[in-house]
Amino acid sequence: MNDSSPSDVAAITPANIRIFDTTLRDGEQSPGFTMNAEQKILFAHTLSDLGVDIIEAGFPNSSPADFNAVRTIAREVRGSSIAALARCHPADIEACASALQQAASPCIHTFISTSPLHRQHKLGMSREQVIEHVIMGVSLARKHVDNVEFSAEDASRTEREFLVEVFNAAVEAGARTLNVPDTVGYGTPEEMRALFEYLRANVKGAENVVFSTHCHNDLGLAVANSLAAIEGGARQVECTINGIGERAGNAALEELVMALKVRSGWYNATTRIQTPRLLSASRLLSRITGIQVQRNKAIVGANAFAHESGIHQHGMLKNRDTYEIMHPQDVGWEESQLVLGRHSGRAAVADRLRKLGYVLDDAELDRLIAEAKSLTQTQHAISDRDLQRLVEGEQFGP
Ligand code: KIV
Ligand code: ZN
Repeated sequence: MNDSSPSDVAAITPANIRIFDTTLRDGEQSPGFTMNAEQKILFAHTLSDLGVDIIEAGFPNSSPADFNAVRTIAREVRGSSIAALARCHPADIEACASALQQAASPCIHTFISTSPLHRQHKLGMSREQVIEHVIMGVSLARKHVDNVEFSAEDASRTEREFLVEVFNAAVEAGARTLNVPDTVGYGTPEEMRALFEYLRANVKGAENVVFSTHCHNDLGLAVANSLAAIEGGARQVECTINGIGERAGNAALEELVMALKVRSGWYNATTRIQTPRLLSASRLLSRITGIQVQRNKAIVGANAFAHESGIHQHGMLKNRDTYEIMHPQDVGWEESQLVLGRHSGRAAVADRLRKLGYVLDDAELDRLIAEAKSLTQTQHAISDRDLQRLVEGEQFGP
């Protein structure tokens, strides 16, 4: 397996990637994922325990409910920095400052659209007016907190030279983090990497700020684009649990973090995430929102560590590395599952029977496998109870 990095990594200290979770803001604002204040607070504690560096708790000026949720999270949750979102509008920024007052480590995240499409059709602003808003927004936010993040909404569809002007203005006004959103999930990995390299080479004072990536999943590329941004020099990734977020969602935190961990030889980057807590965070979010992840979802889906085909099960029984690239326990599963079904083979059935305490001779095993497989005409999987009944000769039926 080729896990080497393009450069000689031996002498280089791994980069720390800051995880900025926006489940409670970008995730929560998408259809079907609305949470009440109590649920948001519970989930914020879970994110902090997970090791998230920055929790974006909401958009305080969007509603009194969001204001109160952000204020309570800022007061109660320790261990992560708490961010709140504001347009480059004085009222939004004042609402953030007020909601974040009791946070131990507050961050105001202010943004404005920069692409030609958004300038013309959404804002009705010239380039100069956009820059004026950036300066006003970031400077006002800096009067309240040290840690100000500025986002250029629709950055990936913005003229590169103008994006540099916008970011120069933001840095001069005091922004500490420059976020480069792929707001509509239009970018490709190669473009994202090149964009970050370009910005790091051209923004004045780039060495004193953190570049951040925020990718949406409209083409299913959000995680790949975030990883490419890291290759281009991003040191903060904005993402959400289960990848929830506007439209097709944001980059999924669990996938991004495990890609960095499993392919550490390639990315040479670490995060603070306690990966064995990933599954429970995912399940808590599903319980709160009532929306389950699909079975084949990477890391946290029911099939992520389940094997049904005979060939795969046989391989797994000999050496799990044949069909698994990480241990299920690393992300919170108890163990892999060898699901007995129509595609399963002799080795897996014999192994399960042994675990249940039955050792059958070849002829008995053949008979039992035939009977077990006939059950799959009416059911998907063969359970331990099914096997026990077959061995014991118990009758099936209602
Ligand atoms: O997708 C986006 O551009 C955003 C910004 C507000 C950061 O969510
Ligand atoms: Zn977004």
